[in-house]
Amino acid sequence: MAKPKVFVTRAVPDKGLDLVKQFCDADIWPESTPPSREVILAHVRGVDGIYCLLTDRIDGEVLDAAGPQLKVVSNMAVGFDNIDVPAATARKIPVGNTPDVLTEATADFAFGLMLTAGRRMQEGEQYVRAGKWQTWDPMLLLGVDFARSTLGIVGFGRVGKALARRAAGFDMKVIYYDPMARPDRDIKASSVDFETLLRESDFISLHTPLTAETRHLINAEAFAEMKPNCVLVNTSRGPVIDLDALYQALKNHQIFAAGLDVTDPEPLPLDSPLLTLENIVICPHIASASKSTREKMALMAAKNLISGLKGEYLPNCVNPEVYAK
Ligand code: GLV
Repeated sequence: MAKPKVFVTRAVPDKGLDLVKQFCDADIWPESTPPSREVILAHVRGVDGIYCLLTDRIDGEVLDAAGPQLKVVSNMAVGFDNIDVPAATARKIPVGNTPDVLTEATADFAFGLMLTAGRRMQEGEQYVRAGKWQTWDPMLLLGVDFARSTLGIVGFGRVGKALARRAAGFDMKVIYYDPMARPDRDIKASSVDFETLLRESDFISLHTPLTAETRHLINAEAFAEMKPNCVLVNTSRGPVIDLDALYQALKNHQIFAAGLDVTDPEPLPLDSPLLTLENIVICPHIASASKSTREKMALMAAKNLISGLKGEYLPNCVNPEVYAK
């Protein structure tokens, strides 16, 4: 029997790709940059499945370009704001994502950004490389303390909770804002409203999905509420922060520093005014980028894809309503 046809929008770790190749006739985009819109529209034509990344916009036009035989869209990411899920649901196409496997790696990275920006490690590193290190200096690159500070977590899902567990080891008080959060007795953290979180936090870390409600959640009004010593960290999605407002807040020392793993747009243009500031550290969306985490994500996305191709329930499906009779 002929293998099902799939379009894979980038080479992913072998753990996932090998499984895809074993079960499918796979058209794998060979470049290291994402396929253009035109390429996606052309390559999905006639496929049974799409294995995509967060860099690919998959909407009704793409689903229709694929055709009525399309059975599944599998995203190698936990976030799925790149996919028009209602459009997939309307066409009865299950959409898969990769939760859980990246929780710890992402929480590690968020904590790393808090440490890097709060203790000015990025500035220290650049200082050494620039040959400016003359002596031990009692006033050099003074940062903020972690012990007994307050960490405010926006979005208390898997990653937010994993960050809270790390914060306990640093003797931090944890508060969170998440109207949907399920309480967790094992984690010492208090639920607060958004304004209280902004006003009381010494560190704020964002772990919310990107939705119409969370786009520019952190804007000029939010910065006006924050403490001047606040360190803001984002490992969720770039557009959750209004980056023009962030620039003003950092430049005017309305907050102390920021650490971003995600920006809007990505990649951040080299002429972004943010890159002229010293009190910010910016990474290229690598919070989940440990070798084993990316292997697990690639494998999980492959399993979602293959389940969908077989007409079975996806192990991780973001729109289970497609299975309703
Ligand atoms: C990464 O940002 C992901 O959503 O998996």
